[in-house]
Amino acid sequence: MNESVTITDNRTGRSVDIPIVDGGVDSAAWRKLLGNVWFHDPGLATTAATSSSVAEIDGDAGILRYRGYPIEQLAEHSTFPEVAYLLVYGELPSEAQLDEWVYEITRHTFIHENFRRRIFDAFHYDAHPMGLLMSGVAGLSTFYPEAKDIFDPDNRRAQIVRLIAKMPTLAASAYRFSKGLPFMFPDNADDYPTRFLKMMFDVGGDYEPDPALVQAMRILFILHADHGQNCSTTATRVVGSSHADPYTAIAAGCAALYGPLHGGANEAVVNMLSEIGSYDEVDSFIAGVKRGEYRLMGFGHRVYKNYDPRAMLIKTAAHDVFNVIGKNPLLDIALKLEEVALADEYFVSRRLYPNVDFYSGLIYQALGFPTNMFTVLFAIGRTPGWLAHWNEMVEQDSRIYRPRQIYKGAPKRDYIPMAER
Ligand code: CMC
Repeated sequence: MNESVTITDNRTGRSVDIPIVDGGVDSAAWRKLLGNVWFHDPGLATTAATSSSVAEIDGDAGILRYRGYPIEQLAEHSTFPEVAYLLVYGELPSEAQLDEWVYEITRHTFIHENFRRRIFDAFHYDAHPMGLLMSGVAGLSTFYPEAKDIFDPDNRRAQIVRLIAKMPTLAASAYRFSKGLPFMFPDNADDYPTRFLKMMFDVGGDYEPDPALVQAMRILFILHADHGQNCSTTATRVVGSSHADPYTAIAAGCAALYGPLHGGANEAVVNMLSEIGSYDEVDSFIAGVKRGEYRLMGFGHRVYKNYDPRAMLIKTAAHDVFNVIGKNPLLDIALKLEEVALADEYFVSRRLYPNVDFYSGLIYQALGFPTNMFTVLFAIGRTPGWLAHWNEMVEQDSRIYRPRQIYKGAPKRDYIPMAER
């Protein structure tokens, strides 16, 4: 079989053959033939802006692998710091490498008190914690000016460790600020998810999270750790491609994640389930979705045209959590929504299935997180993925992101004085 495509410019009759390599075609040949004709691709849905070795997604088969390892195996056997190491460095760590990595991450959890107090004090008490997190991460760039030296691998490692270590501290601080609770210092004796849960919920020093809840937190962090060139990772790469420091690039990732079509969807799902309110309202809600009045949040995905494997694992984890804490009353509505949607021609023909956000919010709510913290939890999990892509991009010494546009505005016209408008 001839593994190539041929493009012909019918204006000139000139053609070019472009080989298909690794499932892609090189745009350089297109550019050579077509000069100033741009590939119109809204949402970059058909554009591979980079090559990457971090995560593999087969949306038709419902497959997600980090560095080749199936997500199901990592969720079952791995810890979150181990997955973070795998994503950033490409291989599972040896025992000694993991020990050193965990030691470093544990030692860098603190945030300078002056910085944390002052930056959060500037916000109103009811500020959304994603706003606090974004600002906190961006602010850290001023605290570590040496992070600008992005081509020094040791320096990159230092910032990667700091960011993975400090995200939970920033996140928990944002929550406690909104509640008026005193900040809780990270305890180095705890593992990553336990430390975070304690920073969130411990008040008198006697909070010990149930092991089933720690397990759920571990799984959720792992399932959110990477997802290829998603919106927030692309935002991180776009900003990083200008050689901005990693704090600035990760703050951009947080900003992109905040939106309800991306990391904000888990919050939107719980709000949607609460608004539906009862099992009996599900059919009329679905009818409204089909009339185009609103979207079924937590459903559909640009890449998955099959059940999102993360949603499957989260659904199981949700049952484990509900066995300990008691069932989230919104679960029945979610289960019925899923059942009705998966049997409905509208959703079947568009290949819309539950995505990672459909059940995650229900677990977060059961664990005691307020809805406005859900995207923050996603951000903690996604941080190693953002950093892995940023690191990969710097190593590739890739070009600055600078797409073209199809200009459809007014042609040249002369300035009209105010009195003549
Ligand atoms: N509810 C109802 N209809 C939908 C939905 C939905 N959730 N998602 C897509 N559609 C319809 C859409 O209206 C369109 O129909 P038509 O062809 O008749 O115009 C068709 O399905 C294709 O949708 P699209 O908007 O072109 O798909 P997209 O790839 O641009 O958008 C998406 C993907 C995830 C933004 C979208 O499915 C959506 O808005 N879902 C709800 C929000 C959500 O759950 N987001 C979390 C995504 S997973 C977490 C993450 O990785 O960020």
